Amino acid sequence: MGTFRALLSEQGTDRKVTSTVQELDDSRLPAGDVTVKVDYSTLNYKDGLVLTSGGGLVKTWPHVGGIDLAGTVEASDSPSFKAGDKVVLNGYRVGELHWGGYATRARVKGDWLVKLPEAISTRRAAAIGTAGYTAMLCVLALSKHGVTPARGEVLVTGAAGGVGSVAVAILAKLGYAVVAATGRPQEADYLKGLGASTIIERKEITEAADRPLLGERFAGVVDTVSGVMFARALAMVKYGGAAAVCGLAGGAAFPGNIVPFILRGITVCGVDSVMLPMAPRLEAWTRLATDLPLDKLDAMVVDKTLQDLPALAKDILGGQVRGRVVVDVNA
Ligand SMILES: NC(=O)c1ccc[n+]([C@@H]2O[C@H](COP(=O)([O-])OP(=O)(O)OC[C@H]3O[C@@H](n4cnc5c(N)ncnc54)[C@H](OP(=O)(O)O)[C@@H]3O)[C@@H](O)[C@H]2O)c1
Repeated sequence: MGTFRALLSEQGTDRKVTSTVQELDDSRLPAGDVTVKVDYSTLNYKDGLVLTSGGGLVKTWPHVGGIDLAGTVEASDSPSFKAGDKVVLNGYRVGELHWGGYATRARVKGDWLVKLPEAISTRRAAAIGTAGYTAMLCVLALSKHGVTPARGEVLVTGAAGGVGSVAVAILAKLGYAVVAATGRPQEADYLKGLGASTIIERKEITEAADRPLLGERFAGVVDTVSGVMFARALAMVKYGGAAAVCGLAGGAAFPGNIVPFILRGITVCGVDSVMLPMAPRLEAWTRLATDLPLDKLDAMVVDKTLQDLPALAKDILGGQVRGRVVVDVNA
């Protein structure tokens, strides 16, 4: 029996969460059939909620957050994994209902783990994280609905964020003309570097006329924002196009209209990364190994430690984190 280091979070009576790095006994690890030596975790929008208020996602405190982890199997009672396997875990409510990746050791169910493709290191797996794997799911959804590069431009909303940045890089690599919508025009060079062909200010979409149909512009949309952004973007999708929706950084409700569906035959593809079954998960990770340019991934990463996370949590909820954060849990 040993110990491990974790960012332990506690919720106060005012619901405010405080987190401190602590050395914990292994006996505090939750139940599970695989023990993982965690190398890296990351920060997603949902992690920001858990670290500030719990976001209604955490049921028992104290808690260890981190919806993603990447590392090496230390011990396994699962027939699918053995010591030494490099693995990544995204979602399955780890970091919410189950202790997550903000620790040097995690105990999880083997059924939740994905064996890493050779081409992807544990550091890059964390850089991809839930945000990047969700971006891949969005691109796959669009392509399965017939949105090919030849059909025209694809809009990515919240482009400088985690899901947005990875979506831009994958779409550009696959030959799509990517229109990146951002509230941070100062990130134009960053987004061009990831492969966006056109950068537009967020308000070009949100301040478009409130009409059920606007000029047909986009063959597809990857929406991470929702709200007015998504409602206006839908009104700009070309006949027969599709929108992959995964996020609500701009609020859950959207003031939409049925007309784009019934007059332009467009499709909305809902994307959930958390409880997605293993087969499409593996498909997404296999495709990430070939369709996400690693130099572009590296260019969107900032390196941080467990101690940095409480401050970063506020930044990501404020839309102030660019690209992807990699957390070296051993630093
Ligand atoms: N469905 C799923 O399984 C799944 C998986 C992963 C993430 N998500 C969701 O997807 C969203 C993005 O996640 P993320 O990790 O990429 O977060 P993120 O890094 O914070 O990115 C969100 C981006 O949205 C834009 N934004 C923020 N607040 C906004 C507002 N009030 N109005 C308009 N735009 C705003 C910002 O981009 P700009 O500055 O470029 O405008 C921000 O960087 C979150 O809602 C998250 O919960 C869902």
